[in-house]
This record gives sequence, structure tokens and C-alpha cells, in this order.
Amino acid sequence: MESALDWHTARALLEWQLEMGVDEAISDSPVDRFAVEHAAREQAKAKKSQVAVARGAPGAVPQQEGPDPVEAAVASAKGAGDLDALRAAMGAYDHCELKRGARNLVFSDGVPGARVMIIGEAPGRDEDREGKPFVGRAGQLLDRMLSAIDLSRKESVYITNVVPWRPPQNRDPNAEEIAMMLPFLHRHIALAKPDVLVIVGNISCQALLGKRGITRLRGQWAEVQGKPALPMVHPAYLLRTPAAKREAWADLLTLKAKLRAMAQ
Ligand code: URA
Repeated sequence: MESALDWHTARALLEWQLEMGVDEAISDSPVDRFAVEHAAREQAKAKKSQVAVARGAPGAVPQQEGPDPVEAAVASAKGAGDLDALRAAMGAYDHCELKRGARNLVFSDGVPGARVMIIGEAPGRDEDREGKPFVGRAGQLLDRMLSAIDLSRKESVYITNVVPWRPPQNRDPNAEEIAMMLPFLHRHIALAKPDVLVIVGNISCQALLGKRGITRLRGQWAEVQGKPALPMVHPAYLLRTPAAKREAWADLLTLKAKLRAMAQ
């Protein structure tokens, strides 16, 4: 039977599925989801027990010794003498599960050494595909916001994220994932040497300031690694909540004023 779908309709339907978060084609061989879930549960149980052993909980069963992911990240990040070495170290780091589901390591975009360093949350579908942060709709809005205060990733801004791999279904990265990637982020900031940090979204605030509640924190200067850091709402939030653009504009002006004051 001939299909009733024309090319344009079929393409629109596929695009709609991508928008809804479908990111896996049906494979040639069946996947036993019960077995996958069972394996994940067993892995979680083993991890829990490892933590209990580390804390000396009575009755905890000792598991095979493995390097602590955070300590491994600290050692690996410390050994990176420049941004290229840091990218390589992150690419070689194998403790974060997110890496397995991602197509690309999303390291950075923009101008290394720029006065402004923007720190987002985690790559989404477009970023994962291109290997660059903030290239989807939220990224395009971010570019327009920067251009409103005469900044751009081509000339004056450096951009990265808290985690460099796309979380499945665009879920938030969890506390463990953030903790193990944080040493790399700290090293990234130290090597990029910006004058000012812009911390975009709740996850980034949680990671760098240890605080959530971006709508309360936005626009108030904080300090990270001795540098002024400005929390701002995420452009993805602005796409959903255009009324918040007014406050975001005020924050951009705050950023512009700080850069001017620091240059004097
Ligand atoms: N949101 C982020 O926080 N980072 C990206 O790179 C893309 C979307």
C-alpha cells in the first residue's frame, strides 16, 4: 500500500518527535528494558554499599576498591596545564555515566581568555550534536542578549557548562555528576582567566555558589575563585517566561557597568 504521507508531513512529524525528546531510533535487535533496569538497580545498590563502607556503616559489604570519581577528577584537572590539555583530560575521564549516552564532549565556545566567561548548565540535543555549548534556541537568545550589550562569543565572551555531556532526555545532572565534574570546571575557570563570571541557571548556581533559587539570586554579585560572579536566569527560562526578560535586561546592564568599572 502506498503511504499517504508526503515528504514535508513526514519531516514535520519527525521534527516534532525530536522536539518532544525522542532521541533513540528503534534498533534492529530488541532491548530487554527489564534487564536494563535490573542492571541499573544492581549498580545503584553496589554504589550505595560502597558509600556505606567508606563511611564505616556497620554491616556494609566491602566492594572492590576503585578510585573515587571526585578524587580522580581533581588529579586529572590539576594535571592540565592549558585549555587543550583540560579538554583532553575531560575526554579521557571515564567515571561519569553521562559520557556513555552523549555523542560529543561539549567543552567550550568563544574566545579563550575573554573578559567574560559564561557558565551554563548542561548541553542539550543541539549542543550534543555540534559539540559546542549554547547553539540551540536558548543559545541563540543568549547571543542576542550579549549583542545588546556589545558582547559576542566571536570577540569577547568564552562559554562553557557545568557538565560537558548531555544528560539523557535533558534531565538535570544529578549531584554526583555535578560533584565529579566540578574540579574540571574550577580548573577551566583558572585556565581561562576571565575578569567576570556569568552563572546561568539554577544548576550552575548550585554547582558554583552552593545555592539554588535563581530568581532570588539573579542580579546579585557573588564571588567564585576570587572573581566577581553574576547569577542570571537561564535563556531557556526566558523563552518560556518572556516577562522575566525585563529583569534579565537589568542584569545585562549590571554586567556592562561592572566591565566598564573594572577597565578603569
Ligand atoms: N543550556 C545550557 O545550560 N547549556 C547549553 O549548552 C545549552 C543549553
